[in-house]
Amino acid sequence: MCGIIGYTGPLEAKKLLLEGLAGLEYRGYDSAGVAFFDTDSHIRLIKQVGKVASLKEAMSKIKEDSHCGIGHTRWATHGGVTVENAHPHQAGRVTLIHNGIIENYHQLTEEFCLEGKLKSQTDSEVAAWVLDSLYEGDPLEAIKNLVHRLEGTYGFCILFADRPGEIYAVRKVSPLVAAYTHSGAVIASDLTALIPYTQKYFVVPEQEIVRLTPYKVQTYNLETFEKTSPEIMTVNWNLDAAMKNGFPHFMLKEIHEQPEAMKNTILPRLNRGIPDFSDDRIPDSLFAECSQVHIVACGTAMHAGMVAKAIMEPLLRIPVTVTIASEFRYQDPLVDERTLAIIISQSGETIDTLAAMTLAERLGAKTLAIVNVKGSTIARESQYVLYTHAGPEIAVASTKAYSVQLAALYMVACRMALVRGKYTEEQAKAFFSEFLDVIPAMEEMIERKEEMKRVVTHLINSPDAFFIGRGLDYAFSLEGALKLKEISYIHAEAYAAGELKHGTIALISDQVPVIATATQDVLFSKMISNVREVKARGAFVILLTKEGAEVDENLADVHLTIPAVKDQFTVFPIAVVLQLIAYYASLGKNLDVDQPRNLAKSVTVE
Ligand code: G6P
Repeated sequence: MCGIIGYTGPLEAKKLLLEGLAGLEYRGYDSAGVAFFDTDSHIRLIKQVGKVASLKEAMSKIKEDSHCGIGHTRWATHGGVTVENAHPHQAGRVTLIHNGIIENYHQLTEEFCLEGKLKSQTDSEVAAWVLDSLYEGDPLEAIKNLVHRLEGTYGFCILFADRPGEIYAVRKVSPLVAAYTHSGAVIASDLTALIPYTQKYFVVPEQEIVRLTPYKVQTYNLETFEKTSPEIMTVNWNLDAAMKNGFPHFMLKEIHEQPEAMKNTILPRLNRGIPDFSDDRIPDSLFAECSQVHIVACGTAMHAGMVAKAIMEPLLRIPVTVTIASEFRYQDPLVDERTLAIIISQSGETIDTLAAMTLAERLGAKTLAIVNVKGSTIARESQYVLYTHAGPEIAVASTKAYSVQLAALYMVACRMALVRGKYTEEQAKAFFSEFLDVIPAMEEMIERKEEMKRVVTHLINSPDAFFIGRGLDYAFSLEGALKLKEISYIHAEAYAAGELKHGTIALISDQVPVIATATQDVLFSKMISNVREVKARGAFVILLTKEGAEVDENLADVHLTIPAVKDQFTVFPIAVVLQLIAYYASLGKNLDVDQPRNLAKSVTVE
């Protein structure tokens, strides 16, 4: 969603802000803007609806240098997509950008008599005017007084007209990371915008104010204004990881990176062939003492949870529940001191997931977060964290993050089975050695991508597509349907194949594409009967099975096979197949693969 970048220092700020905004584009946005001090120390403001490229175009007309400024990409929440609603917002001596939502903006508008002053429909502009009213020459005092009045979430970057060269920032929930580099001070909502300048950074602590000058980044306690020293962290990604490196799209690059990401996530945690989380400081008691597992996540991460449930429950013989994070909070969940809450999030910033984790903790659960972004809010606030090592995922449609979330969950399942006496050491070792076969299987499917490319010629002309499967195959189908709808805009739904006759089959008519996954031996014949049912109604069937599965020649219009890994593990090569089908469908329709309409990479509002 919205992205923030700020810079002050010897470099040309406008160029740096535009590069930073380009680096944040992947988060999803619909307008962009910058504000900077010009050579006369006046603040200039430029905003555009649409892509950063059009902002760049507008800025190319400005020839003078600037060394301090802030930039923003906005994903509309309060108010439509207009130039007025785009950030930065200017109010008297204050110019600011804001991520998050100010819930009490209405009361503040009345209290500070702002009705006639507001040019936009945004809550952010209200905050700007309130800050201007409170500003008497001391930025720290004014910011403190502002945040005392705010309800909601925020990450602000602020310029004061009488403070050229300085940027102030404060946050609650919405993330901000900052760094002092040999060429100035940078602040951003997201690490990807910092990577080009530094590998050392700090997460802006809540309840602190940051002041950036060309020579220093200083944090202050919000109440006492005492100087503080936040913990400096090191990014474990390099610039290459956030570039396309010759691939036409980030999504294709990230699909290719999966085998490597799997190795990075799994191999350092294997001890004599068995998953071991000692280096992650996750004690076995966490797995031994729980009586149920509650998995909470959104989107693709939630789909990884669905697969985990299908693996864990039969193995561990304890209840494993998967809940969509935005529902969890409102359903009075059955969570207690003996619950292990597993929170899954690529970004570690999804607001609903964070809120669900906070609630689970309040109800007494132990929280284990599976997160990709180091130092993110969910990673910092969970009791235990298991990092996946996928590197930065830039394409909105999640691919490699899904595979490594699954890898982490399979590792947890195996460790839990061992700790709880469901597996002997030998069984755990055998499970894991067979598991590792998935990496070459994924590599093979990536190599065979042309096969998936051919499949989509039929798909792209259809308004609908149905994914069917049973058991684990159903769990993967959910993700396959999500991928396809996200980036090709084809209406795609996944159904448990056994449920077809209770409604969905009414939608199957001539040439409707059905992607049927049948990789589970025990369910194979039942699944094939379901395929026959849809075929009999004219469906265009794309059938996915393991190599060697016996399938009548006329059963499917297209038959794709994956290497014959064990049934529990077929999700990994199948994920690659379904991701590539979605990718080529989007490409075939000439759509924006990496930044699909209306979607954001990291959903930081409820
Ligand atoms: C957004 C993204 C999805 C992602 C979901 C959860 O909807 O577009 O790709 O799966 O958020 O994000 P998280 O960062 O918590 O895994």
